[in-house]
Amino acid sequence: MQPAVINIFEKAAKKAGKILIRDFGEIENLQIESKSIGDFVTNADIKVEKSLLETLKYYYPSYTFITEESGVIKGDDNTIIIDPIDGTSNFIHGIPHVSIVIAKMYNEEITDGIIYNPILNEFFWSSKGKGAWCNDRRLRVSNRSNLTECLIGTGLPFGERVYKNYLLEIDNILKASAGIRRLGSAGLDLAYVAAGKLDGFWEKDINLWDISSGLLLVKEAGGKISKLNGEEWNTNCREILASNTKIHSELSKKLSLL
Ligand code: IPD
Ligand code: CA
Ligand code: CA
Repeated sequence: MQPAVINIFEKAAKKAGKILIRDFGEIENLQIESKSIGDFVTNADIKVEKSLLETLKYYYPSYTFITEESGVIKGDDNTIIIDPIDGTSNFIHGIPHVSIVIAKMYNEEITDGIIYNPILNEFFWSSKGKGAWCNDRRLRVSNRSNLTECLIGTGLPFGERVYKNYLLEIDNILKASAGIRRLGSAGLDLAYVAAGKLDGFWEKDINLWDISSGLLLVKEAGGKISKLNGEEWNTNCREILASNTKIHSELSKKLSLL
């Protein structure tokens, strides 16, 4: 059974999801602004976030909110983290790999989270100790232990975010795996690791709102998360390595040589 907090996140996400669906594919009606090269915000991101905040603040008026578009709204030690549209570039281009991400954090630990793709009606959720789910289906990470059979997701840097040596990371993983996917919504990509569709995922220069719910889903589905070098992940980290556990140390070795 879904915990109460997930019911409320679901209510907020499904209401805001209607706004996202209405604007999806309506490129001529979208107002698009660029924060930096390749980093966009649309009027849909703003509307979706406003709707999420309206619902969530009604139920949790004393909480702190960390949001991508409105910044931090200071409250008590309970924190809700929001990414209104994860995959804005996909959204602008009419590619249905987009999601609404909401997570709860307490004492620097993510305890509950949802990732909702309204276009495909996929509602992923997890709570600490309660497993990882997509709609009514319990999720498990994949069972592959041979990296040559594994499909690995990543987020490629763009514009000012391009960092030295990223091509070497790609080169190392391409040579050792069955292939790389750059799907364009870090939250959903992590949900796909939890669902066993991708066997691993890594990204550098990433924000907490992109990966908050996804990392809990991966852990609750039996997977592992860490920094790229295998060290323990914490909420200040700006990178993530996630996997089905079995290929974790091999991936980490290939990604931390640089
Ligand atoms: C982006 C997506 C993308 C990832 C970027 C994120 P946004 O989020 O998650 O897959 O590679 O690092 O910024 O801007 O679409 O919310
Ligand atoms: Ca994002
Ligand atoms: Ca976003």
